[in-house]
Amino acid sequence: MADLHPTDTTTQDRRPSGSTAHDTRVADVAGRDLREAGAAAAAIAAEHLAGLGERPVWRPVPDDERAWLSGQELPERGRALDELLEDARTRVLPYPMGNGHPRFFGWVNSPPNPAGVLVEPLAAALNPSCAGGDHAGPHLERAVVRWLAELAGFPHLPGGGLLTSGASMATVICLATARQQAALADGWDAREEGLSGRPPMVMYVTEEGHSCLQKAAQLLGLGARQVHTVPVDGAYRMDVGALRTMIKEDLERGLRPFCVAGSAGTVNSGAVDPLGEIADVAAEHGLWFHVDGAYGALGVLADGAAPHYAGLDRADSLALDPHKWLGVPVGCGCALLRDPGAARAAFSLVPSYLIDDNAGDLGWFSEYGPEQTRPFRALKTWATLSHLGRSGVTRLVNHTAGLARTLAAMVEEADDFELLAPVTTSITAFRHLPGPHDRLDAVNRAIPGAVQARGNAFITGTRLGGRDALRACFLHPDTTERDLAVLLDEIRLAAKTL
Ligand SMILES: Cc1ncc(COP(=O)(O)O)c(C=O)c1O
Repeated sequence: MADLHPTDTTTQDRRPSGSTAHDTRVADVAGRDLREAGAAAAAIAAEHLAGLGERPVWRPVPDDERAWLSGQELPERGRALDELLEDARTRVLPYPMGNGHPRFFGWVNSPPNPAGVLVEPLAAALNPSCAGGDHAGPHLERAVVRWLAELAGFPHLPGGGLLTSGASMATVICLATARQQAALADGWDAREEGLSGRPPMVMYVTEEGHSCLQKAAQLLGLGARQVHTVPVDGAYRMDVGALRTMIKEDLERGLRPFCVAGSAGTVNSGAVDPLGEIADVAAEHGLWFHVDGAYGALGVLADGAAPHYAGLDRADSLALDPHKWLGVPVGCGCALLRDPGAARAAFSLVPSYLIDDNAGDLGWFSEYGPEQTRPFRALKTWATLSHLGRSGVTRLVNHTAGLARTLAAMVEEADDFELLAPVTTSITAFRHLPGPHDRLDAVNRAIPGAVQARGNAFITGTRLGGRDALRACFLHPDTTERDLAVLLDEIRLAAKTL
C-alpha cells in the first residue's frame, strides 16, 4: 500500500503544531488517504466474507490476542489509517463470533447481507442523526419501515414505526406506549405522575416469551412481579384458555391487566402463539396486544406458514428485527405501531432548541422513542431489502425454514436423537440420546460448548419443557443439507468427549 500520509504540498497546512503528519483536515484525509485505505478495506471485507466457509466457524481468542484487544493503551499520537487497517485485518477479523459461517446455528444471529455491508461506510460518511429533519436518512426510514410492515403483513399508517437498535429497544417503545395508553384510558398520565399509588399494571407472557419483555417491564417500572406467566401447550404456544382465567382472577384481585405479549417465533423452538385467539382475548378485555416477532415475523412468508400467523395483523404493536432473518448488519430492530399517535403520546418531548416548524404532520422520529441522536439504520436496511427484493426474502425464508424441517426429519429418523418441538419457523429443538444414559440433561448441556470448541459447527442450548435441549436456528442462505449431517456428526463426536 502506498504511503497514506505523505507530505502535503498542495493544500494549506491547518495542522495544529506538534500534531502527527497524518493529523490533518477531514477533506484531505478523505480525498487522499481514505480513498486508498477504503479500497483496501473493501477488499479485506470481501475476502473475509468470501473465505468464511473454509475457516473454523469459531475459535477461542488466544490469550496474547485477548490481552492485546482488551489491554491496549490509548495511543498518545494518532495512528495512520493503513496501520489501523492492518491491525483490524490481522488481529480483529480472525476472531469472529461465527455467525457469518454457514454452519453457525447458535442463538438467532445471521450472516451480514453483502449489500448491507456495502453501504455501512456510506452511512458513516454521511453520519447524520436521523432524529428527524429534511435529509435523506429520515425519508428513507419512512420507506423502509413501510416495507417491513408490508412484508410482515402488519397494517401501516405513515408514522407507524421506527428503526431501533434491536428488538429489545423496540419492545421498550411498544410497552411504554401500551402503558401510557392504559393510563390515559383510566384518566391519568403515567409520564406525568409515575406509577405510584396506582393499581399494579399486569402484563401476560408465556415462559417461552423472550427475556426482553421482562426487561422492558422492569425498566418501565411495572415490576417483574407484574409480568404474569401464562402456561404453554405441548407445542410451546400460549394456552389462551389459561390466559382468560388469569385475567379474570387478576381483575378480581384489583389488578389492572393492560397488555398481552404473544410470540411470532420464540427463541427456544420458533413456536408461534395462537395470535388470532390472543387478539380476541385482548379485544374482549381492552388489553394492548403486542407481538414479539423479532426473529420470526418474516416466517409468514414461508410456503404454507400464513395460517400460523393469522391474527398478527390485529396486534397493536409488533417488534421485528431486520438484523435477524434478513441479515441487515447489526444493529437494526423495528417497532411497528398500529396507531402512530399512541407512540408519539408516550414519547414526544420537544424542547425549544429542537422545534422544527417544517417537520410536517408526523414530526420527528425522536418523538416516537427514547433516542434523540439516531444512527442511519435505514441505509443498510434499504440496501439489504432492495438487494434481495420480496422474492429474495421469500426464498431465504423458505430455504432456511426447509432446513429446519429437514433437520427435524433427520433427528426423528435417528435412534440417538429426539425431536423436542414441532418446527414452525426455522428453529429445530432436539436433544442427543447417546445410548443408555443417566445424565441426559448434563450431557446435552455440555454438548454446545464441546461442539463449538471443535470449530466445525456452532450450536447453542436451552431448557425446553424442563429438559436440557439443543436448538439449531437457520438463517444463512448458504447452509446446505450436507451441513445438517455435519452438525449431527459433530454432536455425536463431541458427546463422546464428555
Ligand atoms: C424472539 C426474540 N425476541 C427478542 C429478541 C431481542 O432482540 P434484540 O437482541 O435485537 O434486542 C430476540 C433476540 O434474539 C429474540 O430472538
